[in-house]
Amino acid sequence: MSDSAPHTPVLLNEALDGLAIREQGTYVDATFGAGGHTRALLARLRGGRVIAFDVDPTVEPLVDPALVFVQANFRDIADELRARAIERVDGVLFDFGVSSMQLDRGERGFSFNSDAPLDMRMDQTSGRTAHELLAESSETELADILFFFGEERAARRIARALLRAREQGRLPRTTVELARCVAGVLHRPGKRERTHPATRTFQALRIAVNDELGAISQGLEAATTMLAPGGRIAAISFHSLEDRLVKHHFRDNPHLTAITRKPLLPQDSEIQHNPRARSARLRVAERNS
Ligand SMILES: C[S@@+](CC[C@H](N)C(=O)[O-])C[C@H]1O[C@@H](n2cnc3c(N)ncnc32)[C@H](O)[C@@H]1O
Repeated sequence: MSDSAPHTPVLLNEALDGLAIREQGTYVDATFGAGGHTRALLARLRGGRVIAFDVDPTVEPLVDPALVFVQANFRDIADELRARAIERVDGVLFDFGVSSMQLDRGERGFSFNSDAPLDMRMDQTSGRTAHELLAESSETELADILFFFGEERAARRIARALLRAREQGRLPRTTVELARCVAGVLHRPGKRERTHPATRTFQALRIAVNDELGAISQGLEAATTMLAPGGRIAAISFHSLEDRLVKHHFRDNPHLTAITRKPLLPQDSEIQHNPRARSARLRVAERNS
């Protein structure tokens, strides 16, 4: 990871305050990343411990006597905790999405800012790559992925262009080829875009490749099961699809009471220091029984 920019934790104090930490408690950081939130969590404990998860086998865990690191998908939190004889936890933190290191490591294929094979897997040891997904999906499947996971209004046109390219043996193999293909479909002469036209397509494929929304639903469910009464979940989302799942889970699960009626947003000063915080939203809920 030394070749990439460090990841700055988002909504750090807000998330930890939201967890209402008990010094001797057991906490789960479901998305360890560069360990920014875990480090701050550990600093607030006296006799407590953190169990940190990350699905990416390349993350470098901290060495700390109060920390256990588990390389696993957070959808399996409940089984993984029970396998370690942990039956109840006092709080679970989720900080969804990819880290700056994953984005900055061009070869992971998450970003069109560097040319690399279209991979996009958070765990590169299993599952289909983005290229395999493009090669194996039908036009309708691709259009649905782009529409539902990227909220891309031109989903059908992009899917059709990709299918045409595939039939002609020109299916994009790299990030830059895909970005160029999408830009070709969405190009509007004379119009200056605020974001790259392929941004939504990349988000959609990443979500599909990693089944991110399925993992979030199952992770929230599993975390709720493991919470002690009075224990809390703090979840940081980066787009409306993630935030909607959190909001609905907190509203609909009978064991939870939402602590944040509206999501908490970063201060302007945080966004100035860390542009990645721009779209962050924090919600907190407490287990009541
Ligand atoms: C935004 S980063 C977390 C950054 C971290 N909070 C920090 O302060 O350094 C998200 C991390 O969660 C991991 N991740 C994403 N989805 C996951 C899942 N379903 N299970 C476990 N880890 C996941 C990613 O691999 C990535 O390292």
